[in-house]
Amino acid sequence: MPKISKITCHKTLNSRGDWTIETKVLLSDGSEAVYDVPEGASKGENEAVYIPVEKAIDVVSSVINEALNGEDAYDQSKIDHILIEMDGTENKGHLGGNSILSVSLACAKASAVSNKIPLYKYLGNIFGNDTFSFPTPLFNIINGGKHATNNLSFQEFMVIPAKKYNFNDAYEAGVKIYHALEKVLRKKGYETEVGDEGGFAPENITIPIAFSLIKEAILSCKLEIGEDIFLGNDAAAGSFRKPGSYFIKEENLNLSTKGLISYYEVLLEKNELIYLEDPFYENDFEGWAEFMKLKSDKLLIVGDDLVVTNTKILKRAIEKKLLNAVIVKPNQVGTLTETLEFIKLAKSFGLSVIISHRSGDNASDTFISDLSVAVNADFLKSGAPSRGERVAKYNRLYEIFLEMK
Ligand code: PGA
Ligand code: ZN
Repeated sequence: MPKISKITCHKTLNSRGDWTIETKVLLSDGSEAVYDVPEGASKGENEAVYIPVEKAIDVVSSVINEALNGEDAYDQSKIDHILIEMDGTENKGHLGGNSILSVSLACAKASAVSNKIPLYKYLGNIFGNDTFSFPTPLFNIINGGKHATNNLSFQEFMVIPAKKYNFNDAYEAGVKIYHALEKVLRKKGYETEVGDEGGFAPENITIPIAFSLIKEAILSCKLEIGEDIFLGNDAAAGSFRKPGSYFIKEENLNLSTKGLISYYEVLLEKNELIYLEDPFYENDFEGWAEFMKLKSDKLLIVGDDLVVTNTKILKRAIEKKLLNAVIVKPNQVGTLTETLEFIKLAKSFGLSVIISHRSGDNASDTFISDLSVAVNADFLKSGAPSRGERVAKYNRLYEIFLEMK
């Protein structure tokens, strides 16, 4: 078995123009791989800590490099447990979630190279899966919240191709709708600049208007809403939570939890929404539980900031019946082993699994695409079908799709 022979780390830029780290793991058989750590803008309170870049570079190249030298690179679980124990905190605050993740994932990538198999197969082996299926892409085509400077309170307006499409057809539909939306926006005199995840970020629109613009775009592609294409949304409610209420500024609405539930009920009646992420902020358990009672038979109620890829937190959320689907972001927890444990737990309770990018993503890495195939995730969320760092992930899925055909 090849051993870890050297770990190096330097700074690199992410898609938002912020510095992050790139870590390289070199194995004794000459195989090597790098991983760049992404960073979110609307983070959950319990995410693994992102320590300053200069400090992370130092931690990876000194203490972690020394501690893992000579370790069996294929023993991912042991490597991750060494990192977890060395850190010794609940939130990876000592060595940094970013330092730890970069080593954990670069090690898995280098091991896949060493095995001469595609990354999704290597990850599938670790996960105990060798029959692969494809995730449905979630295309985020209008951006608001913390991902844009417009006035939209909800963060992500998504189009979701129907399950009947294979990945090629789903990808083509998403691209068509994205371009059609650009035309609709221009025709109506809206700006077409984009937000952090590549979706359009028009000024002076409301949530209902955003939905109607998207529906117009879908119809102009001769696709049927509710048959070919469905709608999804990440409200990221933590970002418009004010003390004691939710403030939808563009409509000047100050809503209690009950008021927000009614707001969602109207949106659900008028739109073909099948997916709603973070509809309440992470401590509003009452809102989550009540909404699940009302809507879980027809709607994916998705926890992101609520569960932050953390198995302990997910267990509590399952006990309280707060959600029926989960977002998976490896950098929320910090190691591959913990990420896979989280996915296993979610699946064992029948929750839908969505593998996700971050708004400040790595420029060209495609780890999450391989991960989504490896674990047979239900969805992959990588923003709009536009901008290099977003399409890198979808293009990688397409490559795997062709390979499996
Ligand atoms: P973030 O947002 O990467 O900025 O945290 C993504 C999301 O909320 O899904
Ligand atoms: Zn989210």
